[in-house]
Amino acid sequence: MSASPNRVLLTGANGQVGRCVQDRAKMADRVNRYELVALGRSDLDITSLTQVEEVLSRFQPRVVINAAAYTAVDRAEQEPESAYMVNAEASKNLALVCGKLGIPLVHISTDYVFDGSNSTPYDEEMPTSPLGAYGRTKLAGEEAVREHLSQHLIFRTSWVFSEYGNNFVKTMLRLGQERDQLSIVSDQIGCPTYAGHIAEIILRFVDEINEKEFSGWGTYHLCGDKAVSWFDFAQAVFTKAVEITLLADAPELTPISTADYPTPAARPAFSVLDNKKLQDMLGSDTVRDWRAGLSTVLEKLAS
Ligand SMILES: NC(=O)c1ccc[n+]([C@@H]2O[C@H](COP(=O)([O-])OP(=O)(O)OC[C@H]3O[C@@H](n4cnc5c(N)ncnc54)[C@H](OP(=O)(O)O)[C@@H]3O)[C@@H](O)[C@H]2O)c1
Repeated sequence: MSASPNRVLLTGANGQVGRCVQDRAKMADRVNRYELVALGRSDLDITSLTQVEEVLSRFQPRVVINAAAYTAVDRAEQEPESAYMVNAEASKNLALVCGKLGIPLVHISTDYVFDGSNSTPYDEEMPTSPLGAYGRTKLAGEEAVREHLSQHLIFRTSWVFSEYGNNFVKTMLRLGQERDQLSIVSDQIGCPTYAGHIAEIILRFVDEINEKEFSGWGTYHLCGDKAVSWFDFAQAVFTKAVEITLLADAPELTPISTADYPTPAARPAFSVLDNKKLQDMLGSDTVRDWRAGLSTVLEKLAS
């Protein structure tokens, strides 16, 4: 297959962000702009260096978007090697092969690279110190990408939700149908982020890379506005779900502390990311209220 100036190769195409990238690439304002090669794990297992070399050499894309990851935060404590293979080793595979073939790589990382001890939003330069195996493996992936490929974009995002896959919003809706009362952690603060918003920003960067001499390589924070607790997030889910009659009634919510809800993986108490660098790069409209994304998701789930 010959190289195409507009071919974009997407890994992890069946995950939340992967599905939203596919949807956005098909929207009216973008359709025909790229030739999107969307590959799920069965088409390309990124832990195999041989497969990565073979597939990238065959398609010769203009850009690779890596939306594949091991995202089971608690399970990663029991199987850190599996998380490391996908989040660190496989990211290195992509960076090495992209470097060899001269292809830029868009990669996604997480707020869980921070320990949450800050009281003001984290910018891209602040020291990392992950609390658990998932965060450590994602940080190792970031480092491998930076080490092996200068033409990279790393987007650290947080609390991702969408109409696809498993996420907090869908868990709340399921629990809201099953129970009258729910206890939700209220002392972890972060920024919910709609995967459709992440997809949109990634494709805007792909446009920039495709259309002109691009020099904005590096790491960016990309999350929804404004910061809330999981308790506040749950309240917003139920208020909107009842308003659009996706749920008949909201359960009664009780705020609890992290100490009252022990999980295998420790989570940062405060993982608010600062979007300023992203805004400076692409404009103020890059920051979106996550509540708008929530309405979109709930309306899609209702229809
Ligand atoms: N979800 C969050 O709250 C959150 C928060 C911060 C950052 N992030 C980051 O955002 C990115 C996207 O997350 P997401 O929520 O879209 O994740 P997701 O829904 O869990 O999707 C990840 C996808 O990666 C695929 N995958 C796993 N191992 C693979 C492999 N070896 N080769 C190829 N594909 C593989 C999975 O396939 P299978 O379905 O076959 O397993 C899945 O489709 C990730 O980098 C994640 O770390 C997520």
